[in-house]
Amino acid sequence: MDSSINTSKGLYIKNFGCQMNVYDGDRMQEMMSSHNYNPVNDIEDADLIILNTCHIREKATEKIYSELGRIKKILDLKDANTTIAVAGCVAQAEGQELVRRAPMIDLVFGPLTYHQLPKILKSFDNDKSQNRKPIIDIEPPNIDKFDILPNRLGQTMKVSSYLSVQEGCDKFCTFCVVPYTRGIETSRPFSAIKKEALDLINSGAQEIILLGQNVNAWRNTNNTEMDFADLIYELSLLDIKRIRFTTSHPNDMNQKLLMSFKDIDKLQPYLHLPVQSGSDKVLKLMNRNYSSSFYIEIINELKSYRPDIAISGDFIVGFPGEDEKDFIKTLDIVKKIGYAHAYSFKYSPRPGTPAGEMEDQIEETIKSERLARLQDLIRLTMRKYNEKFLNKNLSILVEKETSKGFYSGRSPYLQSVHFEADSSCIGKIEEIKIIKINDNSLVGEILV
Ligand code: 5AD
Ligand code: SF4
Repeated sequence: MDSSINTSKGLYIKNFGCQMNVYDGDRMQEMMSSHNYNPVNDIEDADLIILNTCHIREKATEKIYSELGRIKKILDLKDANTTIAVAGCVAQAEGQELVRRAPMIDLVFGPLTYHQLPKILKSFDNDKSQNRKPIIDIEPPNIDKFDILPNRLGQTMKVSSYLSVQEGCDKFCTFCVVPYTRGIETSRPFSAIKKEALDLINSGAQEIILLGQNVNAWRNTNNTEMDFADLIYELSLLDIKRIRFTTSHPNDMNQKLLMSFKDIDKLQPYLHLPVQSGSDKVLKLMNRNYSSSFYIEIINELKSYRPDIAISGDFIVGFPGEDEKDFIKTLDIVKKIGYAHAYSFKYSPRPGTPAGEMEDQIEETIKSERLARLQDLIRLTMRKYNEKFLNKNLSILVEKETSKGFYSGRSPYLQSVHFEADSSCIGKIEEIKIIKINDNSLVGEILV
């Protein structure tokens, strides 16, 4: 018998990037707890460190190497025998190259292979040879990870819980690494999603956020008639207070899904719908396959069903070939839509993507200048959006205590709201009067 089996070991997971990585990180943690690995907050206390990485922009990838450098310094001081694993999209994309650049890495596995961690960890531990080689496991497996991962019952109690329903993408936007790192678009069957939703509800979840790189392209793999709007409807019948989803592609927003925002009370009035650019020329170069007017039509139709809907989006500035006129069109669409929230990025050429090879790459100084102008506009737009709520009441699903006696939660429009209360409010929906607007959050008072 393995002598270490009864001793609890420390697991330190650091997630980078998107919500899907947060979800994957939780699933790894849950899986490893049945192998006696329990979460620790400090690198010094860890027997196993997992960096769950993001490859979407160069900056995100470079962060991993600086994080590895930081970890090395800490571990060298401690002279520790800690196993270091790199998971996520950088692992998938770079594989062997990661180990070449950072020989301190012991294990490399990807978003589709992390369920094999206990197995590869065991064979790594069992290898007692002097120059033990790192293990790289990034080949897409025959068995779906969801068939192997333990169920979620009683695992992580989170008021608002993520649930992955779809993974990967076939859209091949010319700037994006996702189709290469997360693989082709695949949907989980409804039965598995419902089972996981029930486990989360039984563990205390009050809100479920359905996740997918292209979540609204979800189709039930056991029944081709059932689409994403049907999935939301079915889940709304469960004992849950709120449902949200992210991220969607404009071309998969059908009318049934748009109408769900009116017809399904539990579906919250917030839609993250990235447009990326306001210029049709740039959208074509990006292979987005829609025009800016098509995007505006979707939002207008959605507003006709649900006038108070909050819209958020993603923008890329400095895409190859983007000129000042194209950029002005991006500013125009921000003004037209009146976003409640938006994320904006400088275009980052990624290895293996068509846009990385395009001529007319834009100079860094121009990218930075455009990003600053766009972010100024987004800041104003968000402020204007939030100011409408001053002195109004909002229903807040309370998620956590932020400091002694202070709590935070989310409004239906996903605004983060802070207020004073007592711990009995966690997991409940409280009526809060908004008394102050900050740049990224609201402050309120509980109404009794
Ligand atoms: N450069 C900059 N931003 C990117 N995104 C995806 N790929 C890139 C890239 N190469 C942005 C898109 C996407 C969000 C998740 O990240 O806006 O919607
Ligand atoms: Fe990437 Fe989204 Fe385009 Fe898919 S739809 S390639 S995930 S940006």
